[in-house]
Amino acid sequence: MRPLLEINNLTMDFGGLRAVDNIDFKINEGEIVALIGPNGAGKTTFFNCVTGMYKPTGGHIYIYKNDKSKKRLNGLKPNKVTEYGLARTFQNIRLFKQMTVLENVMIGRHCRTHANIFSALLRNKKIVREEYDSASYSYHILEKMGLGYFCNEIAENLPYGAQRRLEIARALATEPNVLLLDEPAAGLNPQETSDLINLINMLRDEEGVSILLIEHDMGMVMKISERITVMDYGKKIAEGTPEEIRKNPEVIKAYLGEDIDA
Ligand SMILES: Nc1ncnc2c1ncn2[C@@H]1O[C@H](COP(=O)(O)OP(=O)(O)OP(=O)(O)O)[C@@H](O)[C@H]1O
Ligand SMILES: [Mg+2]
Repeated sequence: MRPLLEINNLTMDFGGLRAVDNIDFKINEGEIVALIGPNGAGKTTFFNCVTGMYKPTGGHIYIYKNDKSKKRLNGLKPNKVTEYGLARTFQNIRLFKQMTVLENVMIGRHCRTHANIFSALLRNKKIVREEYDSASYSYHILEKMGLGYFCNEIAENLPYGAQRRLEIARALATEPNVLLLDEPAAGLNPQETSDLINLINMLRDEEGVSILLIEHDMGMVMKISERITVMDYGKKIAEGTPEEIRKNPEVIKAYLGEDIDA
């Protein structure tokens, strides 16, 4: 299996607090992997370091490019990280609320287009063509995500579950090799969660995207993941298949009082 993202000894300190402590992690082509752990374990901070929102205190983050060469991502800005094939969604939905659904996805597309402000103002033939292509590509993604019907709707008017799918659609517009989802099932009802599971499987099977998801819904985690990494107090405390994780005493201890046997 070809690795796509490789992380060694990742550490992030906030003053005296070590939120991410020496984490090693790897995701291969075509994998669906979950990152779990109790509240405050450091999961979102891990995502923020990997996607360039925080500059990690220590460690190395490498992405493998399509030509199989390796690029170190430390210190790159989030938009550059996206260009290298890593996209994410947020724990709290972050959409352009007053824009249409299609425009929200087209913004995601921007990192794959070439128009700068001057050429956009001049609106030459190439730019008009590029805009047309961007709109049709974005619409295609919306259709895949079951959102075609909403394409001209203002984003904030969408039902909550559809807004969550729109966030994923926007991330997909950047053509990622690896997609990081921060609690995609939060606030969804059981039917919406089951649809989301099908959708994530479809993205892996049909679009070839590898997926790393942070999730508290253990039913979903156990059903969808091939591998699970568990964090607690910034440290990786376990790694393995859903079966191994379910039985792991360290994990059971970390989740004391919570039901991981979903
Ligand atoms: N920008 C920040 N400045 C200072 N401390 C932070 C910052 N971001 C996160 N932390 C702290 O780092 C620790 C890990 O937080 P993080 O949000 O990564 O946890 P999490 O595993 O995503 O939790 P949850 O499941 O509740 O989303 C927490 O103690 C948090 O308070
Ligand atoms: Mg979090």
